[in-house]
Amino acid sequence: MDREANLMERNEEIPASAYSQHETASAGFAPPVRVVAFGKVDEDAERARLVQGLLRRHATIEPKYFYDARGCALYERICTLPEYYLPTVERGIFARYREAILRELPHAPQWIDLGCGDGRKSPDWVRALKARRYVGVDIARGALSATVARAIRDYDETEALGIACDFSRSLDLRAVIAEMADRPAVFFYPGSSIGNFPEPEAVALLRSVGDHLTPGGRLFLGVDLVKDRGALEAAYADAQGVTAAFNRNVLAVVNRVADADFVPDRWEHQAVFDARAARIEMRLVARENQRVRIGDQRRGFARGDSILTEYSHKYTIEGFGALLASAGFHRVRAWTDDRRWYAVFVAGV
Ligand SMILES: C[S@@+](CC[C@H](N)C(=O)[O-])C[C@H]1O[C@@H](n2cnc3c(N)ncnc32)[C@H](O)[C@@H]1O
Repeated sequence: MDREANLMERNEEIPASAYSQHETASAGFAPPVRVVAFGKVDEDAERARLVQGLLRRHATIEPKYFYDARGCALYERICTLPEYYLPTVERGIFARYREAILRELPHAPQWIDLGCGDGRKSPDWVRALKARRYVGVDIARGALSATVARAIRDYDETEALGIACDFSRSLDLRAVIAEMADRPAVFFYPGSSIGNFPEPEAVALLRSVGDHLTPGGRLFLGVDLVKDRGALEAAYADAQGVTAAFNRNVLAVVNRVADADFVPDRWEHQAVFDARAARIEMRLVARENQRVRIGDQRRGFARGDSILTEYSHKYTIEGFGALLASAGFHRVRAWTDDRRWYAVFVAGV
């Protein structure tokens, strides 16, 4: 049986849900790459959870709903903004400590790009390590095949695979990794995306990554560090309003997924650093009193009421090291920039 049939047998195709529907970017990449949907998604249960979050007194939307086609494109723009220092500082650490980082990673691994997005951060590592396989994992399935093709474009020796799944619910790639049992996995999780999870969920996700690691396997991730409020808040409220558009766009996604009638322009973007909780809290604040239909329910929002859309937790190097330890990681190395604004960790179990 070929490997694809094997995978498809063991994993049901996810029914396309509105937040994961966007066109496959056809950037002219030649070979079609294998994209597999993983994990059963109970769409009714997900929708019910979303509606429940919106009806709560302190309304919430999970950040995974940001990433429809427009949300992905806006995120790529955010990464080019002068205020959003994270990608630049991360890139600087990668460049400065490239050799030291490479020494901590296994040769010819299976490279698992968690929340791969446009996948642009992987090709240099994939080539340098002669990765045997690139696995792009993302909830935004529409862009996956282009991302995966791009990640291996200049390096023919790598097999490529895209996995569409929601790893906030469960992460189980053991069957995939076992297909190349002799090649350890590197889980690459850059961009400080781990910061979107409150600590117990972050520990659970990292623990589940650790459960996938065979001898030599590593977690390789980037984490934004605590710094002064001004720099943090500017990073999430840029002068051009791109982050505001990204934040408001989640309401358009919610309208599709939950059959709601939010009017995005009636909501103001807000990003505040809560120093006690060490996190940016991103919200949408009602500009005026309004009633919104959410499926077959209605709820009123008074002017000034808000919906929490994202946390971005900030860490110290020591604090994140402790979090890694509580998730079962022990062989930890970290690199930072001169200002200690951001850190890159490689860890093993
Ligand atoms: C902040 S972007 C980071 C993209 C890229 N890794 C980078 O560092 O630039 C987060 C990515 O994770 C994906 N994502 C968010 N929540 C997810 C979830 N629960 N399961 C799978 N992918 C998710 C999004 O679709 C998006 O592509």
